[in-house]
Amino acid sequence: MMRYVEEFADMYEKALLMPLPQKAAFVGKGLVVVGMGGSAIAGDILRDCIEGVKVDVWRGYGLPSWLKEEPVIFVSYSGNTEETLSAFSAFVGTNAVAITSGGRLAELARARGIAVINVPGGLPPRASLPYLLFPALRMAERCGARVDGVEEAVKVLRESGDSESVKESVKGMAEALQGQVAIYCPPGFEGAARRMKTQLNENAKMHARWEAFPELHHNEIVGWENTKAPYSVIFIRDAKEHNRIRARIEFTKKLLQGKANIFEMWSRGESKIARVLSIVSQGDLLSVYLAQRRGVDPLPVKTIDLLKEHLAKV
Ligand code: F6R
Repeated sequence: MMRYVEEFADMYEKALLMPLPQKAAFVGKGLVVVGMGGSAIAGDILRDCIEGVKVDVWRGYGLPSWLKEEPVIFVSYSGNTEETLSAFSAFVGTNAVAITSGGRLAELARARGIAVINVPGGLPPRASLPYLLFPALRMAERCGARVDGVEEAVKVLRESGDSESVKESVKGMAEALQGQVAIYCPPGFEGAARRMKTQLNENAKMHARWEAFPELHHNEIVGWENTKAPYSVIFIRDAKEHNRIRARIEFTKKLLQGKANIFEMWSRGESKIARVLSIVSQGDLLSVYLAQRRGVDPLPVKTIDLLKEHLAKV
């Protein structure tokens, strides 16, 4: 898994060159990304990175009743995920595109004249994020989304991937984290926070949870009144965070003194996409260092495989 994390900048660069379908109609005022797990997260991160277009992410069977005429991006790395196939079957029309390495989704989409963006195969789905995200960004641009700074994002990822100080700081965090882990993010980094949580689950085989400011100040914060267990809280920080969000974060850090070990992970770069992806890459790295520290293999996700095998039989 470390190899994939280290290759992310290269993968993003290759993803920029991926051919997109000519004929995909893909028109509408917003868009919906349908998928699960390591595929669906591309939708959450897409929402963090673009401006001007509303993005909804649907995880589940069938399609939501609120879906009207929005174009849909079906994302399933394997192309065989039950929920995503169920959503695809419920979909009417051709205002859609499928991003996949193959499987049933590619077959079904082609049979219905829906464009397929083929991504390289043979990766764990969560390691294929660049190949899922960048084509989704380009499709979002076709519906009017603005995405500034994609090249800068790749440059920032390359620089931080090569930076010993970034690696040392993330490794230090992995070594110092104790007890239960919570990830708190400023608004606009929800996808990055969720990605960090799921990478900790799948790579480091541990529980973690995430919450976003300012909402966490209206509920989550009260839970600290009665917390006894050892806890670690990672604050995702951004140089451009709103000044009231900054005040809230500083207050929360003080509140947690003596109750949790506090860590900060700062975004890098200027553009929103660079800042978001810099957190994604540090979170990914953190999950692999945590796997090393915990003595677990980050690659297999045995429980997910077991569950999928079981569901295929019932
Ligand atoms: C495995 C992983 C999972 C899968 C999920 C959906 O690396 O990250 O969360 O992404 O089970 O499968 P796909 O992505 O093939 O639709």
